[in-house]
Amino acid sequence: MEPKLKLMELVAIPVLLALLSLSNKANACPHVPCYFVFGDSLSDNGNNNNFPTLAKVNYPPYGIDFPQGPTGRFCNGRNMHDFIRLPFSLSQLLGFKDNIPAFATSRGRNIFNGVNYASGSAGIRNETGSNLGVCIPFNQQIKNHKTIISMITKLMGNYSATNLLLKQCIYSVQIGSNDYINNYFRPEFYETSRRFTLSKYATLLVQQLSLQLKTRYNYGARKFAVYGIGQIGCTPYAILMYGTNRPDCVSKLNKGATLFSNRLKPLIHQLNNNLTDAKFTYLNPSGGPDLATLVRDTSCCTIGGGGGELCLPDSKSCKNSSKYLFWDGVHPTEALNKIVANNAYTSESPLDASPLNIQLAMR
Ligand SMILES: *[C@@H]1O[C@H](CO)[C@@H](O)[C@H](O)[C@H]1NC(C)=O
Ligand SMILES: *[C@@H]1O[C@H](CO)[C@@H](O)[C@H](O)[C@H]1NC(C)=O
Ligand SMILES: *[C@@H]1O[C@H](CO)[C@@H](O)[C@H](O)[C@H]1NC(C)=O
Ligand SMILES: *[C@@H]1O[C@H](CO)[C@@H](O)[C@H](O)[C@H]1NC(C)=O
Repeated sequence: MEPKLKLMELVAIPVLLALLSLSNKANACPHVPCYFVFGDSLSDNGNNNNFPTLAKVNYPPYGIDFPQGPTGRFCNGRNMHDFIRLPFSLSQLLGFKDNIPAFATSRGRNIFNGVNYASGSAGIRNETGSNLGVCIPFNQQIKNHKTIISMITKLMGNYSATNLLLKQCIYSVQIGSNDYINNYFRPEFYETSRRFTLSKYATLLVQQLSLQLKTRYNYGARKFAVYGIGQIGCTPYAILMYGTNRPDCVSKLNKGATLFSNRLKPLIHQLNNNLTDAKFTYLNPSGGPDLATLVRDTSCCTIGGGGGELCLPDSKSCKNSSKYLFWDGVHPTEALNKIVANNAYTSESPLDASPLNIQLAMR
């Protein structure tokens, strides 16, 4: 992955530096020049496409509502990050490509925009997701980020300019679901459920996440948007696979998710207190109040692909995905992604964003 310095890049760097110092002074709206994304299939935008894994979706009907068609996004259209970064349109001013590049395809100057390291089936733990094939675990995503920082430094020419850039970026982290659905609750593949209680497991995951966040802090990150785990027991695939023991959902999966999120919130509070030159915010990925009218018990597409939870290749999908919460067996539709993104960006409820929403927290 040899970065080629083109004339455009040489022009872009002084412009970028000028805008960085400008956005330091004018804080009326959050001018975020770059957005780095870490996570799993909820965020992946193509990193798994060339891996031997069941957890990849570079085939129709994925992407039927996305301008470039199937890209590897686990959705019919845009994912949450495609929506969240829209307000940060400084990058458009610089003439950067609209979407954040996947790590797998990032080249040259587009890395100043940020990079998406997320990988379907990945988790906080290294072994998570290996039942489906190869993925990029969170630890390796952080190593990949280190590689990108070296490339940025090379393009920038010096470390202080790189640090000035890195500390203004948003670092989004949404990870942990697979540590339950493709680890703890798959005892035929993993021994974690025999070694740890559900409560101890949540503690271990959040401890590891804490170290992983601090590593990124040490690499210059100062603005962290960290998501809890949603109601993973309420997906159509979870209900199909485990059956229900409550009217709607698989309660043991939701219990794991809740334990995790309840330990993550105080961690975010501690990190804000301990690392005073950084900002951390906790975000609820469940999407706020206005979902009651949407279909929640069936997927929009016909499932059976991947490990069973993904759309079948070239299968038919529902007439209007905007009426559905779930695109496939586990992943949200573009319609839900938009609601979740809007919530994370603007919600004033501490249940959704704590201490503050992204718009206020990331100034
Ligand atoms: C997890 O993977 C990283 C590399 O990606 C490695 O440095 C680390 O030692 C691994 N941790 C464990 C517990 O195996
Ligand atoms: C690094 O780059 C900045 C911006 O171009 C410049 O002001 C600074 O003097 C440079 N520092 C070094 C050590 O070259
Ligand atoms: C924050 O600092 C306190 C006091 O030094 C320490 O006990 C705690 O473990 C720290 N928390 C984190 C997440 O670093
Ligand atoms: C799809 O459903 C949404 C939400 O109910 C509605 O606003 C939209 O008009 C529908 N689109 C079509 C093409 O029916």
